[in-house]
Amino acid sequence: MKALILVGGYGTRLRPLTLTQPKPLVEFANKSMVLHQVEALAAVGVDTVVLAVSYRAEMLEYEINKHADRIGVKIIFSCEEEPLDTAGPLALAKNYLNDHEPFFVLNSDVICSFPFAEMMKFHKSHKHEGTIAVTKVEEPSKYGVVVFQEDTGEIQKFVEKPQEYVGNKINAGMYILNPSVLDRIPLAPTSIEKQVFPVMASSGNLYAFILPGYWMDVGQPKDYLKGMQLYLNDMKCRGHEGGDSLLAHGPNIIEPVMVHESAKLPHTGQIGPNVVIGANVVMEDGIRIKNSTVLADTHIKEHSFINASIIGRKCTVGKWVRIENTSVIGDDVVIKDELYLNGARVLPHKSISTNVPEPDIIM
Ligand code: GDD
Ligand code: MG
Repeated sequence: MKALILVGGYGTRLRPLTLTQPKPLVEFANKSMVLHQVEALAAVGVDTVVLAVSYRAEMLEYEINKHADRIGVKIIFSCEEEPLDTAGPLALAKNYLNDHEPFFVLNSDVICSFPFAEMMKFHKSHKHEGTIAVTKVEEPSKYGVVVFQEDTGEIQKFVEKPQEYVGNKINAGMYILNPSVLDRIPLAPTSIEKQVFPVMASSGNLYAFILPGYWMDVGQPKDYLKGMQLYLNDMKCRGHEGGDSLLAHGPNIIEPVMVHESAKLPHTGQIGPNVVIGANVVMEDGIRIKNSTVLADTHIKEHSFINASIIGRKCTVGKWVRIENTSVIGDDVVIKDELYLNGARVLPHKSISTNVPEPDIIM
């Protein structure tokens, strides 16, 4: 079985984290976003994954190749000369995908329990050209909205980012398509959401698979943090069979918390709930971290407080610092002692020595 993951796009909404690496490599729960997907695909028997790239391909290739053998999949990089949007990359990779079997297509920034086996079973049962995984959200306007028949799953309408309310079931960014769909797509910038799905829906060829469990597009800071919370809570609920061993326990931990085995925990202070601590992170005594991700190689000094924020790689957070309100700190940033950062987006390699009292971008 084959799969294609759309890993182009500039990841602008996840800046400043995407200024130093492409979005698919940004770590989510201590693993590059795209590796969550590649591993889940391999687990259901996908042997070849095409990564459709349109920017910073060298870094991506280098990092992904390190994992391909371990995961047991062949990775093919299909590089666009100009960004081909969300359908054009399928035409470009046609020769890799066209082997008379349905194949998977994924957006690279979605997180869920990836029930690919059930999804393929559903696809084969309805015998039409395409299946879209669908989930329910409260704010449908920033997604592709899907209107379908509840009993059969047949999609009647697909509307990308509707201005007026159409429904609250949305495209979760995961598809199974028959190779015949490739004949509909020109080798040019083409949107699968605006140009391909609406046509397939109007001819009764597209079906909705209702995604069980949690789902999130983690391509924006607030949603990344929400996705992290859902991911950790799902892990906690599934207990031992679901990898509970990756979660931390102990006197200073309020569950669920994931701490990389190489990170250094403080003797005093409190971590959690909903926290991910990356590789080699050093946390000094008396700190308080909740609802946040701290990426690899960062140092957090005594008595600092971090809430609802993402701290990049190789940062130093001084003593008695307070960071909150969806602050996102880029890689290699130094924050001096006793500062207050409220909703700050700090670009990589900065040294911060004054407060950021209101949400602001620090360049
Ligand atoms: N190769 C390639 N080339 N990939 C691209 C390009 C391109 O030119 N443009 C975007 N992508 C990739 C992105 O990297 C991402 O993985 C995927 O296509 C979707 O792009 P996003 O920018 O994340 O789109 P979105 O989040 O606004 O909306 C999409 O995802 C929603 C679910 O999260 C749509 O598919 C919506 O319909 C859907 O509901
Ligand atoms: Mg997205």
